[in-house]
Amino acid sequence: PKAIAVLTSGGDAAGMNMAIRAVTRSALARGWAVYGVQEGFAGLIAPPEEGKISRLEARDVGGILGRGGTVLGSARCKDFHDEKARARGIDNLAALGVDALVVIGGNGSQTGAHALHEQGLAVIGIASTIDNDLEGSDITLGADTALNVAVDAVDKLRVTASSHRRASIVEVMGRHCGYIGLAVGLATGAEAIVLPENDVSPDEVAQRIVNAYERGKHHAIVIVAEGARHNAQALAAILERDHRERVRFDMRVTVLGHIQRGGTPTVQDRLLGARFGAHAIECLARGEHGVLVGLRGSEVVTTPLAEVIGKQKPLDLDLVELAHVLAQ
Ligand code: F6P
Repeated sequence: PKAIAVLTSGGDAAGMNMAIRAVTRSALARGWAVYGVQEGFAGLIAPPEEGKISRLEARDVGGILGRGGTVLGSARCKDFHDEKARARGIDNLAALGVDALVVIGGNGSQTGAHALHEQGLAVIGIASTIDNDLEGSDITLGADTALNVAVDAVDKLRVTASSHRRASIVEVMGRHCGYIGLAVGLATGAEAIVLPENDVSPDEVAQRIVNAYERGKHHAIVIVAEGARHNAQALAAILERDHRERVRFDMRVTVLGHIQRGGTPTVQDRLLGARFGAHAIECLARGEHGVLVGLRGSEVVTTPLAEVIGKQKPLDLDLVELAHVLAQ
C-alpha cells in the first residue's frame, strides 16, 4: 500500500497508544502516508465532512507511549454490522487513497475487521483487549496493565479487610471470560475464585470463607468475574441470606469496574504495542492481510481473522486448582 489507516475499537486498553505510534512510524519509515481514524468504526463510516479521518505524521504520535487509553478515541459501533455502512467506510478510505487498515481491538472489533476484509479491504488486526479472550494470542495488549491495576486494588482491599476482620468480595471485568478473575485470584491468594468457566457455588464460597476464619486468618478475599453465574452483589446477597451465621466475617462488596481500563501502560504492554504495531506494517509490506497479529510464546505471529472471530480462548483451568491449593 501507499497509504494506510489505523483505528482503535471496542473497550480501550493500555498499550493502544504505543501500537498507534508503532504503526504510524513504521509505515512512515517505508514512505507510506498514514491516517488516524477517530472513534473506531463509527469514525470510519461517518460522513467525510465530520473530519474523523486525518493524516498522522511522526510528531502527531509523540509523547503518547506512556499514556493509557487511546488518543484516537474508541467506540462500540452497532451500524458496523450493516454491510452498506461498512462499504461507506471503505469508500471513505478510498477517497483518501487508503487501501489498507489496521484495527487495534478485541473480539467484536476483529469481527468487524474480518467483515471489512471479506468486502475487499486489506485489513490487519492487532489483538488488544483487557479481557485476554482472543484466540490467536497468548496475551492481548492491555491485559497486563489491567491485571496490575486490579491486583493493586485487591492488595489495598486486603489491608482494610484485615483491619476489620472482613471478607472482601471483589468483582473484576472480563465480560464472558474469566481470565482476569483467574489471574487476579491467583496473584492475590484469594480464598475463592468464581468464574464463568469455573462456577463455585455460594455454599462452597461460604465454606472457603469459614475455612479461612478457622485457620485464623483476619480476612478472606473472594474474586468474582463479572460474567460468572452470580455477580459479586448477587453472591454477597446469597451469602448474607443463607450463610450469615456460618461465615462469621462481615462482608463488603467492591466492583472494580472501569478503573481496570485506565491504567498507565506497563512495560510489557508498551513492548507488546511496539512489536504488534511494527509487525502489522511488516505484514502489509509483504502483502499479508486478513490476519490478527498476536503473541505465541515469545514470538509475534499472525492467525487468519476467520479462525479467530466468534471464539473465546479457553482458560487454563489447572491454574484454578493451583490457586485453590495455594490459598489453603
Ligand atoms: O472488553 C473490555 C471490557 O472492559 C469488558 O471487560 C467489559 O465487560 C466491557 O468492556 C465493558 O464495556 P463498556 O466500557 O462498554 O461498559
